Amino acid sequence: MSDYNALIAVAKQARENAHANFSNFKVGAALRSASGKIFGGCNVENATYGLTVCAERIAIFKAISEGERRFDAIAVVTDTDALTPPCGACRQLIWEFCGDVPVVMANLKGAIEVLRMRELFPKPFDSSNL
Ligand code: THU
Repeated sequence: MSDYNALIAVAKQARENAHANFSNFKVGAALRSASGKIFGGCNVENATYGLTVCAERIAIFKAISEGERRFDAIAVVTDTDALTPPCGACRQLIWEFCGDVPVVMANLKGAIEVLRMRELFPKPFDSSNL
């Protein structure tokens, strides 16, 4: 798990910036590129609700927009006893941009669980289906 400490720390820090005025559910994410660079993200809500972007997608879009294309892990941090897995929309994008990476779910009390994308998203639709 120590391999994931830095990733979890960045996700925790990013969570502090969550704009979750409507749900009050703050989420932090962190995505690690193959070169070792870590990109943080938080959820960003707005008054229409539906235009909300999850923490995971913010981290992915930040990394992609900085030119990164290969990733080896993603972390999601919330302040809940039941650890938070990525939503369906995020699973799709994590799969397409990161493939079968470990998804590190953690909370503020130090609980950690790691599942691979293949387990979370067993029968994906992607470019291989086109
Ligand atoms: N949310 C995330 O940012 N990531 C997840 O993995 C689950 C849900 C956000 C979306 C919304 O701002 C709030 O959490 C409640 O759904």
